[in-house]
This record gives sequence, C-alpha cells and structure tokens, in this order.
Amino acid sequence: MTENKVIVEAIGLTKTYGSNGEEVHALDNVNFRIHQAEFVAVMGPSGSGKSTLLNMIGALDKPTTGKVIIAGHDMAQQRDLDSFRARTVGFVFQMHNLIPTLTATENVTVPMQGQGGSERTQRQRAEELLDMVGLKGRGHHLPAQLSGGQRQKVAIARALANKPAIILADEPTGNLDSISGDEVLNVFDTLHSEHGTTIMIVTHDPRVARRTHRILMMKDGKIIHEDIVGDVYTEDLKVLARSDFGQAMLNGSLVNTLNDAERDVMRQVLERIAHENQISRTPG
Ligand SMILES: Nc1ncnc2c1ncn2[C@@H]1O[C@H](COP(=O)(O)OP(=O)(O)OP(=O)(O)O)[C@@H](O)[C@H]1O
Ligand SMILES: [Mg+2]
Repeated sequence: MTENKVIVEAIGLTKTYGSNGEEVHALDNVNFRIHQAEFVAVMGPSGSGKSTLLNMIGALDKPTTGKVIIAGHDMAQQRDLDSFRARTVGFVFQMHNLIPTLTATENVTVPMQGQGGSERTQRQRAEELLDMVGLKGRGHHLPAQLSGGQRQKVAIARALANKPAIILADEPTGNLDSISGDEVLNVFDTLHSEHGTTIMIVTHDPRVARRTHRILMMKDGKIIHEDIVGDVYTEDLKVLARSDFGQAMLNGSLVNTLNDAERDVMRQVLERIAHENQISRTPG
C-alpha cells in the first residue's frame, strides 16, 4: 500500500502561557503526523491541551518552540499567515460563529473573499458545498431560521470554502443534542469517506472518537497514548473486554452461570478479544 502524503507534521511542539513562575505548559513536546484522508480524534481531560494543539496547527496561535508543517509548508515561514491559513485549514468550532445578518450561502462565501473568483462562481461553489453537507435549497435562510445542527452544517460548508488541506474541528457537536450531533457527525463521515477530506476532531464523546481512524489521547499537554480504531464490532468487544463483566468473562468466574449455547458464544468472543488484543499491539 502506498502511504498517503503527510498533511500535518508537528515537531517538538510546546506552548507555554504566562511567565515568572505562573507558567502553564499547555503543550509539552508534542510530535505526530496526519496523512492525507485520515480521520483523527483528539481526546483527553479538560485542560489537557486539545484546543491549544488545534490552534497551533491551524495557525491561530504560535508555538513557544517547535514547528508545524502543513502540506509541506513550514507555518513559521509564511509571510502572509492569514492568507495561508485561509487557503490551507478550515475551522469548525463548538459555536458555529455564523454572521447572523448573512444567509447560509453568503456565510459560506465569506472565506472566499480575496481568494479570487467572481461573485457568481463563489455563490455557485457555496451552493454546491451546502448541497454536500445536506442543506440543498436552504442557502437563502438566515442562521436564525436554521436549527442548531443545520447551522453547524453551514459552518462545515464554510470551513470547506477554499478546499483546505485539513478540517480542524473543536468539539463541533458539543452544543448539540445527540440526534443533531449524530447528523453533524454523519456529515464529517461523508466528507471523509466520499470526498477523502482530512479531518482532525477534538471531542469528549467516545462515540464520536469511535467513528474516526485514530485517537490521540492527551494529558498534561502531552500525547500519552495513540489508539487505532477498528470496526464497530471490534470496538464493542474491546469495550466489553475492559468492563467488569468482560473481566469476569476473561477470568472464567461467569462460566458456571451460562448454558452450553451461551458458553459457546462466550468462547468465540474471548477468542476474538484475544486476537484483537494482539493486533492492537502491533503498530499500524
Ligand atoms: N490564553 C491562555 N492563557 C493562559 N493559559 C491558557 C490560555 N489558553 C489555555 N490556557 C491553559 O492551557 C491549558 C490547556 O488548555 P486547552 O484550552 O488547550 O485545554 P482543552 O484540552 O482544550 O480543555 P477543554 O476540554 O476544557 O476544552 C489549560 O491549563 C488552560 O488553562
Ligand atoms: Mg478545548
């Protein structure tokens, strides 16, 4: 298999806020790569540095030391960082940040300003992007006329405006109920699976993370663990294996409570877990 090109490379990233003994080490020597068409989740407790990391990658803020290379370009070497950012990354935040007086279509064209193209082609592209996120025919609506989930979809379309190398999403479903949240996640899934969009998503929700390829787990400004996500069935088995019930299964103390058929299923599950445990220890 040929390896996809590297879209993001973080080398020795640190970010220290404050000074004179009041320092917060928000990022502490973070190193990783994201390849084209990857779908990566960033998880970890509050304050572990997830948003700081995303902001460094998206050039919203500068690292204290270390480098971010995006699509082969060293961020620190860019003379016009605003323009570089507009062309290279698309942000989706927890708050949709749409302009309330502009229609959905107009909101999507905002990042296209100054990037060339006539007003007509910009509007046309915006309509196509709204179609892609499942909002065909809703382009003339103002944000107030859309549901929370729909507004977030407009925000995703806006993030795609300039064909960025990567979409960076910081808890994009954090303000939504679970049904709208799922719909927004479906949009990310589709973008990834049908359009090969490279996506990095910060989330507290294990269900969200499970829909990605790879989970970077952060703690105290470091990536402490990296997990390759398997298929849904495998992931369910891993969750089961880590639970008290799964542990009881594994140490055999439940066996006497089962009938023959159940014991048979159990044996298959245990074999599968043992197999998966071996696989997940092999670097992907
Ligand atoms: N502008 C700032 N000035 C000082 N400290 C900051 C600043 N921004 C973030 N921090 C600190 O850096 C650390 C990491 O913050 P960050 O926002 O990246 O965490 P997070 O993982 O995104 O948390 P959450 O899950 O709550 O969003 C925290 O200790 C935070 O207080
Ligand atoms: Mg955050």
